[in-house]
Amino acid sequence: MQYKLGLIGYPLGHSLSPWIHEAFLRDAELSGSYEKYEIAPEDSLELMIKHFIETGIKGFNITVPYKETIIPYLDDVEGKASKMGAVNTVLIHDGKLKGYNTDGEGYVRSLVTAFPEVESDKDKRILLLGAGGAARGIYCALSEAGYRFIDIANRTIQTAENIKQLANEGTTTNLLTLAEAGYKASDYDVLIQTTSVGMEPNEDASVINLDRLKLGAIASDIVYKPLDTKFLNDAKVLGARIHHGHTMLLYQAQLAFEIWTGKRVPADELALQMKKILEGAS
Ligand code: ATR
Repeated sequence: MQYKLGLIGYPLGHSLSPWIHEAFLRDAELSGSYEKYEIAPEDSLELMIKHFIETGIKGFNITVPYKETIIPYLDDVEGKASKMGAVNTVLIHDGKLKGYNTDGEGYVRSLVTAFPEVESDKDKRILLLGAGGAARGIYCALSEAGYRFIDIANRTIQTAENIKQLANEGTTTNLLTLAEAGYKASDYDVLIQTTSVGMEPNEDASVINLDRLKLGAIASDIVYKPLDTKFLNDAKVLGARIHHGHTMLLYQAQLAFEIWTGKRVPADELALQMKKILEGAS
């Protein structure tokens, strides 16, 4: 069988997804390809989907700006994606389309792969910085995985409040301003930076002041351009352990690949290669 896979979005630029999925195909000893399909705002998403079905595409990823607008074209949406109102992976089977969202779970997989102690202790105090689409997925996945204490700090408290509504039973969440998050930084074992602050071209900024960070805390940033953000650099100087952003992209891809092929391909070697590529790019 030929695995014809793809990615839709706009603009797609230098996406790393083709590189990741072609490596997975090779490692799984499957033949196939992963192509980028840029859909400009004036183009038809519906026609592209029709084309995918006709040409035997097995599955595709969805990125900005189509994660929400794809939903009306799907026959079925899996629970997590439906709860989040966003789909990043579609499986085509017998001409029917099913939507999934692997972003949040991919992030959690990347975190516990790097720090297995986090998986075994659901009482870890977690602080999520930001309340956008990425934070929403991560929050849902952490809550679903059984983490009991997940606070959210955001510039706009209302969006954090909306995310809190998605908590599973057993998760307690306090909402904080970004200034409060700085004062209380020492309360947390894991801090997850999901805002665009620190991203190119604003690399000189960090979303909160980390001076009060607990020694040995885990500082995680989902930004990977640059790989070493100011948030991570500051945290490292203060004795934190660092979790880089590129692994979220890699493990959400690992989950998508599993949905399409039924195969789980190890990603640790690819994580190292990807880090080198991104370091070279900066
Ligand atoms: P994504 O889908 O990548 O999560 P997003 O939905 O646009 O992107 O979310 C961006 C996040 O970065 C939000 O939490 C946003 O805060 P607001 O909800 O207050 O907009 C945060 N953010 C962006 N610029 C920021 C800034 N200059 N200071 C603080 N937070 C910022």
